[in-house]
Amino acid sequence: MKILRVGLVGTGLIGKQHAESIGRIPGIQLVAITESNETVLQKQKDYFKVKAYADYKEMIDNESLDVIHNCTPNTFHYEINKYALERGIHVYSEKPLAVTVEQGEELTRLAKEKGLANGVNFNYRNNAMVQDMRVRMQKQDAGRCFLIHGRYIQDWLLYDTDFNWRLSVEEGGKSRAIADIGSHWFDTMQVVTGKKVTAVYARNFTAHAERKKPTEDGSVNVPMETEDGGLIMFQLEDGTCGSLVVSQVSAGYKNHIFFSFDCEKYSMRWNQEQSDRLIIGTRELGETHIYAAPNLIDPSVSRYATLPSGHPVGWADAFTNGIREFYNSLSDDTYKEKTTYSDFENATYIMKIVEACMKSNEENVWVSIG
Ligand SMILES: NC(=O)c1ccc[n+]([C@@H]2O[C@H](COP(=O)([O-])OP(=O)(O)OC[C@H]3O[C@@H](n4cnc5c(N)ncnc54)[C@H](O)[C@@H]3O)[C@@H](O)[C@H]2O)c1
Repeated sequence: MKILRVGLVGTGLIGKQHAESIGRIPGIQLVAITESNETVLQKQKDYFKVKAYADYKEMIDNESLDVIHNCTPNTFHYEINKYALERGIHVYSEKPLAVTVEQGEELTRLAKEKGLANGVNFNYRNNAMVQDMRVRMQKQDAGRCFLIHGRYIQDWLLYDTDFNWRLSVEEGGKSRAIADIGSHWFDTMQVVTGKKVTAVYARNFTAHAERKKPTEDGSVNVPMETEDGGLIMFQLEDGTCGSLVVSQVSAGYKNHIFFSFDCEKYSMRWNQEQSDRLIIGTRELGETHIYAAPNLIDPSVSRYATLPSGHPVGWADAFTNGIREFYNSLSDDTYKEKTTYSDFENATYIMKIVEACMKSNEENVWVSIG
C-alpha cells in the first residue's frame, strides 16, 4: 500500500494540531513543512524531524507530495491552495477557504477540473455528538425543528492590548469574528439540519475602536476595521428561523460554541466545551445527558466516538476525525462524490453567508444568499 506524502504549510497554533492528527492516521506521512517565520521554522524542524522549507513553492516543487495541509493566515490560502491544485496535489485547507467569494469559486472550479480532493477544516461537524444530532434530525427522531439558536463566544480579544494578524483586513479579510468563528457555527448547523441558510439579518459590534499593536519599543494605536462580534438572525431553505450571537470579547467564555435545536418532541443542545455529551431537553424530565460512546450513538456514526463512555472524546478527537474522513475518501476514491467533510464548494457557500452578514450590517436590511 502506498504511503501518502503530506506537506504542511504554516506551523502555528493550528498547523501543529494538523501535524498531530496526521501522526494519528495510518497510511499517511508528514514528510515536509513550510514555515515563513525563521525562528519557528527551526523549532518545528527539530520537533517534527522532517524537511523544512521557508517557501511553500520550493516544498511543493521538490517533495513529490500527494497532499498539502494549508495552515497559513487567511490571506495566503488562495495562492497556496491554487499553486498546489495546479500541480495535481490534493488540498486540505484551513478555513476560510479564501478571503473573497470569487477566490473561493475559482478554487472550487479548479479542484473540480483537476479531479482533486478538496477539504476545508470545519472541524466541529466531526464531533461524535454533532454527528449524532445530524442523524437524529435526518430521522426526524425529535419531530419537526422549529427554532435554532446558539452562540460562538470567546474572550481572547477582550482587552485593547490583545493583538493578532486576524484583526487586520489585509491578513484576515474584511470580516473577522463572523468569518473566523461564526463560519464554524454556520457550517455545523447546516450539517446538523441538512439545510442551507438562505437569508440573514446582522448587526455587528466593535468593542474597541482602536487597539494597541505591539512594536519593538512599546505599542502603537491602530484603528479597528473588523468586528469583535455580531448578532445574526437567519432563515433556512425550509423557512426554519434562528439566531446566533458571535463575540471574541466576552469575558470568561473561552471557546464556547453552543447549539440548541428546538424540535416538537425534544430539544437537542450541544456545547463544545463539554463536547462528549448531548443534552436532550424534554418538558416532562428537563435535561437528560447522553455521553459519547460508540454503543450510545447511532451506528452509522459510531466511528466518530473513538473511546468508550467515560473516556471523554474532545476537540482534538473531532479534529482528527475530520482529517481521517478526508484521507478515507482518498483511499476509497469517494472524494469525487458528496463528502462528509466540507469541500471547497461548501466552504464557498459559508463565505457567502459571511459576506451576506457584512452586507446586512452595512445596509441594515435582510440579505438573501443563493
Ligand atoms: N479549524 C479551526 O478550528 C482553526 C483554529 C485556529 C485557526 N484556524 C485557521 O488556521 C489558519 C492559521 O491560524 P493560526 O491560529 O494557526 O495562526 P498562527 O499565526 O498561529 O500560525 C500561522 C503560521 O503560518 C506561518 N506563515 C504565515 N505565512 C506563511 C506562508 N506564506 N508560508 C508558510 N508559513 C506561513 C506563520 O509564521 C505562523 O507560524 C487561519 O486561517 C485560521 O483561520 C482554524
